[in-house]
Amino acid sequence: MVSKKKFYVTTPIYYPNDIPHVGHAYTTIAADILARWFKIKGYDVFFLTGTDDHGKKIALAAKKAGKSPKEFTDSLIPKFKQAWKRLNIKYDRFIRTTDKDHEKFVQKALQEAYDKGDIYKGEYEGYYCTGCEAYYTEKDLENGCCPIHKTKIEKLKEETYFFKLSKYQKQLLDYYKKNPNFISPKNRRQEIINRVKEGLKDLSISRTSFNWGIPLPFDKKHCCYVWFDALYNYYSATRKKGKEKYWPADIHLIGKDILWFHSVYWPAFLLSAGIKLPEVVFAHGWWTFDKEKISKSRGKVINVDELIAIAGVDSARYFLFREGVFGEDGDFSEKVLVERHNNELANKLGNLVSRVATLIERYGVEKTENKIHPSEEFKKAISKGKIEIKEILTDNPKDNFYIFEEHIEEGGKYGRVFSEAIRYILEGICLLVEKQVEEYELDKALNTIFAFIDYCNQYIQNRKIWETGRKRDLYELKESILKIAELLSPFIPESAEKIKKQFTAKKIKKGEILFRKIK
Ligand code: MSP
Repeated sequence: MVSKKKFYVTTPIYYPNDIPHVGHAYTTIAADILARWFKIKGYDVFFLTGTDDHGKKIALAAKKAGKSPKEFTDSLIPKFKQAWKRLNIKYDRFIRTTDKDHEKFVQKALQEAYDKGDIYKGEYEGYYCTGCEAYYTEKDLENGCCPIHKTKIEKLKEETYFFKLSKYQKQLLDYYKKNPNFISPKNRRQEIINRVKEGLKDLSISRTSFNWGIPLPFDKKHCCYVWFDALYNYYSATRKKGKEKYWPADIHLIGKDILWFHSVYWPAFLLSAGIKLPEVVFAHGWWTFDKEKISKSRGKVINVDELIAIAGVDSARYFLFREGVFGEDGDFSEKVLVERHNNELANKLGNLVSRVATLIERYGVEKTENKIHPSEEFKKAISKGKIEIKEILTDNPKDNFYIFEEHIEEGGKYGRVFSEAIRYILEGICLLVEKQVEEYELDKALNTIFAFIDYCNQYIQNRKIWETGRKRDLYELKESILKIAELLSPFIPESAEKIKKQFTAKKIKKGEILFRKIK
């Protein structure tokens, strides 16, 4: 028996110091989309999310709430789980850094690094931002404030253990070179490489100023720095029976603010431990709200319930991946979410589904054979990543159909003419969407699917199918809609499931409205 290919995707583990907001939802939905996609493709998928329970930030928040850190985080975990459930997110494990198996693993990793000589004792002096749980040097600060949180920053001096990060500079640079996709998207790569080239200082990995963390096994008055503890969650989760096969992770999805930790510290810890490195660390941008970062510590927050309340779960999921380029920043706007819900989900997708179902209910379908397949040129262009379909044109004076494939790099366009072209286009669309999703271009994948939805609506219009009642056209449209539902199901699972049910029923009928318009 050939064993299935595996796909292991992770989200950051979130600080449970407040309820989750749209920024957290974004990464978690992205992971869910990928997990669902690869499951459909037959992969053995492991999707990990969870919370980062230790550290000074949590200890302070708990104190403020008058609770112990454990009581405090225990009270917030159900909020995360509920939020993910409401957003239709199907993870395989919810890890907490306070889980016993994880704590035990981190102690083992610390001991091994210590025994190997990669951890040594020293003294640290620097500016510590509790919001970031990170030290800064004087030159990183902006007017004495944290560059991210803009809050005044404290100078700390303490006895600490260091991890020999500097020792791994060359190995890291070699790894980046040999694995050009490790830091993704591409445009984030060079900045990291430049910083690593400037030189790496050894990293302080223990604290004595508070004790909400994992004690160092070789010096119990120190507790482990939260990032050493946290990053190891991705690996410790695969140390359970039956889970070993998932390591290395195929993709760590994160926000750009924590790329340094994931592309420098994390691979260095793994190099030290002699563990394989993850395939890809993908850093997406930030959602802003009125152009300011949405964040708990800065006061601009849209929580998950508020997000869902605007236009429903699927519309929220759709909006987040249609609105901005995946990888870059996006500005959150309730108005635009509602517009996309109305104009795209209700008018384009919803209309297509209800029109075709109504016509099939009236006229029925007649099976056609698919004789036209994507050309070799088309496949080649896709595999080179050259194609981006902006619009499929259905200008058909002679009942022929055109697809314009735009070569981005060459800037040229070429067109092809086919009759019965819907199947040709459909197959091409599937290949292209597959390529886009598997290269983590989620927004582009949605653009392609919606270009095809536009095309289907045009097809009905141009062929006046409501007058001709042509059963073969309706068969083509039915097949197209089923494929659209499959392609969209990772993004909008609930609606896609409804469409699938409707169009695989013995008698296809006009169903309930998929997306009700919002005023
Ligand atoms: N606990 C660490 C991660 C440890 S992973 C080993 C952490 N937690 S966090 O709760 O502060 O943030 C988690 C993620 O949420 C980060 O990837 C961050 O980029 C993301 N977001 C927080 N606010 C965001 C936006 N406004 N927009 C998009 N994502 C943002 O960091």
